[in-house]
Amino acid sequence: MRALLTILLTVLLQLPFASCSSEPGVQTGGSTDANTAVSTGDAPTQQPDPDGLPPEGRVPVVDDTEPDDEPEASGGTTTGGTNAPEPGSAPEDSAPEDPEELPPALTEYMGRRIAQTMHWKGAEWLMRATREDEEHATEMLDALDVPPGATVADIGCGNGYHTLRLAARVGAEGRVLAVDIQEPMLAMLRRRMANADLTNVEPILGTLADPRLPEGVVDLVLLVDVYHEFSHPEQMLAAIRRSLAPGGRVVLVEFREEDPDVPIKPLHKMSKAQVRRELEANGFQHAASYDELPWQHVETFQAAR
Ligand SMILES: C[S@@+](CC[C@H](N)C(=O)[O-])C[C@H]1O[C@@H](n2cnc3c(N)ncnc32)[C@H](O)[C@@H]1O
Repeated sequence: MRALLTILLTVLLQLPFASCSSEPGVQTGGSTDANTAVSTGDAPTQQPDPDGLPPEGRVPVVDDTEPDDEPEASGGTTTGGTNAPEPGSAPEDSAPEDPEELPPALTEYMGRRIAQTMHWKGAEWLMRATREDEEHATEMLDALDVPPGATVADIGCGNGYHTLRLAARVGAEGRVLAVDIQEPMLAMLRRRMANADLTNVEPILGTLADPRLPEGVVDLVLLVDVYHEFSHPEQMLAAIRRSLAPGGRVVLVEFREEDPDVPIKPLHKMSKAQVRRELEANGFQHAASYDELPWQHVETFQAAR
């Protein structure tokens, strides 16, 4: 009887309870479903990474608690697994969608897997102290030569890392239309705008398929680390094209897929060739490349004639 009990106990102890753990502080790695769901995959892992990447990738802290009033300072990055919506649905706190009108979300586009939306709880990562060194954001904006007085759209603005810099560059005569689909991202942006006393930024809650930009007025559409998350790339690109003023530019800044030394998960990288393929299939022509950033491509397009 004792021997039987010992065997039973041994078997019970070997059951894989650990794999069902929702232990706080452990992110679950790069989920491949739910392309428009909140990302579980942006963060480096403290567990084996299904993408097989080293942990020095993206978004550090993992914490499922609500950020406080100053998310940039306190942060907290979700693992996403607990609050990720169903595949094809919008992240929580995103603009309400009319399911009747919204076309189906894609999980792949032109041979590329679409990444999940980065969750607003990971916003602290966007403000990390090392970002300027890693991405040379100042150099990137210098290369774009944004003129004072311009109307710029920062689509997928997040908590406004680039938005505030753009606002300084366009000056009082210009404006920045800052679009995101997650209201909490825009709330963080508004706080940063208020702290900086900025009045030339207009936060816009877009939808998965529509940035809700005015038509024919935007001189520059900046898409930093966001195009690869679009679940509705064709609808977004059509709307972006309509928003452009004559001669207006669209700039995609994406982590270089061609470079294995860029420490970002493959799903969140794009190759130059893929960027061009997708933009050219949607009414844009390539205008310029800037190849001097440490981790990213900067590809500029204009509406094809
Ligand atoms: C990785 S973050 C980059 C934020 C910012 N561009 C930066 O570089 O700091 C991507 C952001 O794009 C937003 N996003 C994803 N799909 C979007 C869409 N269709 N329209 C607008 N924003 C979108 C997400 O909510 C998220 O805030």
